[in-house]
Amino acid sequence: MKGDPLLDVTGLSKSFGGVKAVDGIDFQLKENEVMGVIGPNGSGKTTLVNLLTGFVTPDSGRIQYRGQDIAGLPPYQVADRGVARSFQMVKPFYALSAFKNLVVPLQSPRVRRLTGGKFGDRDAVAKDLLEEVGFERDSSVITQTASSLPHGYLKRLELAKCIALQPDLFVLDELFSGLSLAEVAGIVPVIEKLVAGGATIIMVEHRLRELFRIADRVMVLNFGCKIAEGPPETVMEAPEVRSAYLGSEAEG
Ligand SMILES: Nc1ncnc2c1ncn2[C@@H]1O[C@H](COP(=O)(O)OP(=O)(O)O)[C@@H](O)[C@H]1O
Ligand SMILES: [Mg+2]
Repeated sequence: MKGDPLLDVTGLSKSFGGVKAVDGIDFQLKENEVMGVIGPNGSGKTTLVNLLTGFVTPDSGRIQYRGQDIAGLPPYQVADRGVARSFQMVKPFYALSAFKNLVVPLQSPRVRRLTGGKFGDRDAVAKDLLEEVGFERDSSVITQTASSLPHGYLKRLELAKCIALQPDLFVLDELFSGLSLAEVAGIVPVIEKLVAGGATIIMVEHRLRELFRIADRVMVLNFGCKIAEGPPETVMEAPEVRSAYLGSEAEG
């Protein structure tokens, strides 16, 4: 229902052996909100992404998406419901071109459903998406195999694959890592345009300056627990955040 949260997460937990990677996290996300997720290395950010998108099954807790519990659903079913994720460690089909990598989500049941079969020119849509994330149209970067593409292109391909799915919720895991300042500057407006178009986004990010410009709210994790949540302007002021997050940054 309108006004209900798009996502309502309660008591979400996952351990690996003795490590509590995600330890009883609660949060809500409203439609069209952008929530940043930050925290030191190993604080559970990627595990949270994996839990939300079906790549890891929670030990306990609930993930209500549009009022239905999606915890434990396989990734393809989560994606089919409109949750798209990008990978911190990029995961293209390496043997396919960037262009063909996009044809895969463009042929998904979700996109077929959303377009009612009237898809138009799929090849043109794939090229438009690649251009949108900074690939030079009609150059070899869109047709060479992903295995031969520089890292910056592979990160941007991650975002294009997500957009291709026409998701309601984007879960982006360190999209900016490994990108040059110029590449980040090129991607930020793409994300802003998604938000203007109604997208809801969870952004795990190390690049705080850029994140804080985009995010409405920031959640801070440390050792799998939420230690703070608030607007980007003030969230870093909490003493727990300073010692946990900045302390570890200072150590490198
Ligand atoms: N598949 C796994 N098997 C064992 N331990 C894991 C696995 N995934 C994550 N972990 C551990 O869980 C903790 C959180 O990791 P991760 O979610 O990747 O953190 P972050 O993304 O914040 O750097 C770390 O201690 C990490 O070693
Ligand atoms: Mg991570």
